[in-house]
This record gives sequence, C-alpha cells and structure tokens, in this order.
Amino acid sequence: MITLPKGTKDVLPENSYRWQFVERVARETAKTFNVREIRTPMFEHTEVFSRGVGETTDIVNKEMYTFLDKGGRSITLKPEGTAGVVRAFVESGLYAAALPLKTYYITPCFRYERPQAGRLREFHQFGVEFFGAESAGIDAEVILLAKTFLDNLGVKNVTLYINSIGCKECRKEYHKALKEYLKANYDGLCDLCKDRFDKNPMRILDCKNDSCKKITENAPSILDYLCDDCKAHFEQVKKLLTLSGVEYKINPKIVRGLDYYTKTVFEFVSENIGAQGTVLGGGRYDGLVAEFGGGKVPGIGFAAGIERLLLLLESTGEIKNEDGLTVYVAPMGDDARIKAFELVSMLRKSGVIADTDYMNRGIKAQFKYADKLGARFVAVIGSDELSRGAVKLKNMLSGEEKEVPFQELAEFLK
Ligand code: HAM
Repeated sequence: MITLPKGTKDVLPENSYRWQFVERVARETAKTFNVREIRTPMFEHTEVFSRGVGETTDIVNKEMYTFLDKGGRSITLKPEGTAGVVRAFVESGLYAAALPLKTYYITPCFRYERPQAGRLREFHQFGVEFFGAESAGIDAEVILLAKTFLDNLGVKNVTLYINSIGCKECRKEYHKALKEYLKANYDGLCDLCKDRFDKNPMRILDCKNDSCKKITENAPSILDYLCDDCKAHFEQVKKLLTLSGVEYKINPKIVRGLDYYTKTVFEFVSENIGAQGTVLGGGRYDGLVAEFGGGKVPGIGFAAGIERLLLLLESTGEIKNEDGLTVYVAPMGDDARIKAFELVSMLRKSGVIADTDYMNRGIKAQFKYADKLGARFVAVIGSDELSRGAVKLKNMLSGEEKEVPFQELAEFLK
C-alpha cells in the first residue's frame, strides 16, 4: 500500500463539511469587512520567500520545500501566504489602485517541520493582507476581523496577546540592550539561540527550550525601547481595541517567527490543543512592499491555521453538518427503481439533497444505508405506492410515517 507522505492528511468525504464550514465562515467574515479574495501560485521563485520571510528565520533556513525545476530555476512551495501576496501586489501595480487594498486568501502551505498534533508539513491558512494604511485604526480593524472570524466559528477559550516590536530605529537600541543582558548567560543558550544572538536576538525570547526560557525571564522589554512614534501607535491600537470591546493581554515576548514585522504583532492562543496552541498570528509589516520594489506602502495582516482551528472546534463540540442528505428514495422492484431515478432528478432540480439505490439492495439494507448516510427522510416506493402515485415518507428521527404524492414531495421536503 502506498501511504501519505509524513505530515500530510487527507480530508475524507465524511469530514469535508468541517472544512467547508471553516472556509465558509472565513469568506463570509471577510466579506462583511469589505475584503476581497486574492489567489497567488502555490509555488514562487525561492527569492520571494528568502527575501520576504527573511534569511534568518527557521522557515527559510530549515523548512522550505525548495527544488530546481526542469529549467534549472530555484522554486519553493509557499511556506506562508504573505510574501506571495506582496509580490503580486507589487508586480500588478496594485499600489496605484485605491488604497487601502484589503485582500484575503485560503491556501495550502508547506513547511518541513517535525510533525505533531497541530503541526503538519502541508497545512492550510486563512489569511488577510491589508495594504496602504499607516494609521492604528487599520491594526485594530485587522485584529477585530480575526476576533470576529473566531467568534463566528464558535471558537472559545482563546487569548489574544498583543505586542509592539517597534521600527528599525527602536529595535537597534533594544537589540543592544537585549544582547548586553543575554551576554552573561550566553553559554546557557541552546545552539539555535547562540546562532540567533548575532543574527536576530529578539527571536531568543520566543525559544521553547527550558534553559533559554529561564534566561530570558527577566530580559528587558521592547516596550521600554519604543520610539515616540511607535509608542503612540501602540497606545492608539490598544485604545481602539478597548473601545471595540476586544479583550487582550500585552505580552512583550511575542516576537513572531518571521522577519518582516514592524510595530504591532499579535497572536490568538488556545490552551486546549497542546503545544501548538497558536491558532492565529499576524502583525504589521511596513517595510515589506519596499523590499519587493513597491515603494513605501505599509501593510498588515494575519493568518489562521485551519487544522488548528478544527482541532480546537472538535475539542469544544461538534460542527453541525448542514449539508446532510435530506431524503433517500428507497425503491422495491424494477418499476419502482425507474420511478425512484426519475423522482431524485426531480427533487434535485428543486434543490432537495436526494439520493437513491444503485446496488439493488433489499428494503432493509436500504434503510440501513440511509441511516449511515444520516438521511433525514426515507421515501419508500413499493408497488402499492407506485399505483397510487405517492411515496411512504418516513421521518428517520421521529419514526413518523406519512404518504406524500410524488408531485408534492419536493415542496414538502423544502
Ligand atoms: P505564522 O505564525 O507562521 O504566520 O503562521 C500562521 C498560522 O499558521 C499559525 O498561527 C498556525 O495556526 C498555522 N501554522 C503555521 N505552521 C503550521 C504547521 N506546520 N502546521 C499547522 N499549522 C501551522 C504566517 O504565516 C504569517 N504569514 C501570518 C501573517 C499574515 N502575518 C501578516 N500577514
């Protein structure tokens, strides 16, 4: 038997309604915030991510699915959604369009990580990217969109953590102070963090290694090093969130694992789904469009991991399958079978979800099958019913039976 590659999953027919539910809520929520869909390719020139996500990140260093195509070009499967959208924004000259431009996407992503619950090598993101607005209002709107999406899904027990990691200028000062603080305990850092010490010291705050966590416990906070502009921006974001009734906690250790962030960063975290509890993460990236040659256009966005959301939804309750079978038409005998075929076509034309037997099953086996499919009604056609031009309709939940003429069945079921 040929099996799935490690870290990937099939979505089987009995489960696809859960995915469709999350995707439907994502699209509907985006729509109410006047956000339109953007679709970019599943693979890009590797440079899009090495430049976009950043050379010092784990994603670029260790996790990308990169290969040479038959033309000898270095190609990478997208490890996240933002960099490709920024590439498209610049390449299509969208910065000349009416700004802010508000986009969303639902996409598979690929990262060569060690698989565990909530961590896959192929996973899916619902993300948004907003371009062109510098004001704190858009930060609050993006966070509010994320919160509304989670609320609309019915997700419970998630905490919103926010932070500001400042601009290039304030970070220069902060890096100096952080390195000064870490220097004394450099030997206690894990190998990865020793490497981060010079390249990207802020990422050490985010390390899950126990020894690193202990060392960074009393590290200086970025919030004490923000310049006046970044400080005022963060104050305004907090004010607008409070005004909108969004609860949040400030966590100066949220730094995010991608290099492009500036100012506001945020994560929604759940305690219910194990170690991989971040269901949604995002932030502002004011320098990324310029990095792609698109001028000084600020940006902000987030992405939510759909697999993690599904884990969370399953841990707190079942998602209702609203697309289940309405009626199973169960014929007895060859003439009834022909009538059943005609009847399901008629029902489907009226928008009723209908199915019938193609396995020549006896009536008992048909009821069993209909039950497995979760049919709400079974419409039996025997020779008596056939002669009267009606079905015997059984409500599978209440057990109630009723004769309904063929012509009235669609109306009755709707
Ligand atoms: P990220 O934090 O790398 O950010 O990923 C966003 C979300 O994708 C995570 O919070 C998590 O739910 C999910 N995720 C990440 N890796 C995996 C994995 N291996 N398996 C399952 N789920 C995973 C970004 O990707 C940014 N592009 C978000 C963003 C958009 N920032 C601004 N705009």
